[in-house]
Amino acid sequence: MPTGGAPTASQTVRLPEPSPLSTMTLDEALRTRRSVRDFRPDALGPELVGRLLWAAQGITSDEGFRTAPSAGALYPLELYVVTGEGVSRYLPEGHGLAPLARADVRADLAAAALGQAVVGDAPLVIVVTAVLSRTAAKYGADRGERYVHLEAGHAVQNVLLEAVALGLAAVPIGAFDDARVAEVLSLPRAHAPLYLVAVGRPR
Ligand SMILES: Cc1cc2nc3c(=O)[nH]c(=O)nc-3n(C[C@H](O)[C@H](O)[C@H](O)COP(=O)(O)O)c2cc1C
Repeated sequence: MPTGGAPTASQTVRLPEPSPLSTMTLDEALRTRRSVRDFRPDALGPELVGRLLWAAQGITSDEGFRTAPSAGALYPLELYVVTGEGVSRYLPEGHGLAPLARADVRADLAAAALGQAVVGDAPLVIVVTAVLSRTAAKYGADRGERYVHLEAGHAVQNVLLEAVALGLAAVPIGAFDDARVAEVLSLPRAHAPLYLVAVGRPR
């Protein structure tokens, strides 16, 4: 399963433009967000998947700035998308997906997440990884590590709130075996898994 190489334009699947889909206020999203671990199995579709990815790392300015802040605007995060249809990587430039594998690896990912059933049952799992060297090159290894962890939190909180605003639900997952997640997704060595978010329609 080749996941390391840069995808060519012809392989990229464009996601629908992230036009506003929700009228829920931020205040209401903050009040109603709750970790949910029981989802309906139906797929979310490209519009919703695209919105959630955009919330995490979408580009929102001509200069390339994104929905989530980034230390030094160095953008170390790389997002992987796991659904029943396979594995892909989010490409903020062009708001697209680079398909990487067609297999449904959710059961393997659930096993890597210490057997958490929600990871296997969710129609969508976003895997947040980081390329530490992008940030460490400027801030050093220790500070860089702190910054990529903070950034993963920013990105995931955006997903959690966007999910609520879209009538979906989610749970952040920090309990997993890093090496097994990397193996299941065939991650490039430099892409270290930091955080998972399982998303779906609440039952
Ligand atoms: C860093 C972090 C890691 C977490 N890891 C898991 C996890 O592995 N599995 C899980 O079911 N929930 C996980 N959670 C969700 C917490 O259990 C949940 O946020 C907490 O119980 C508070 O509930 P609430 O999110 O509904 O407010 C995690 C939350 C955080 C912030």
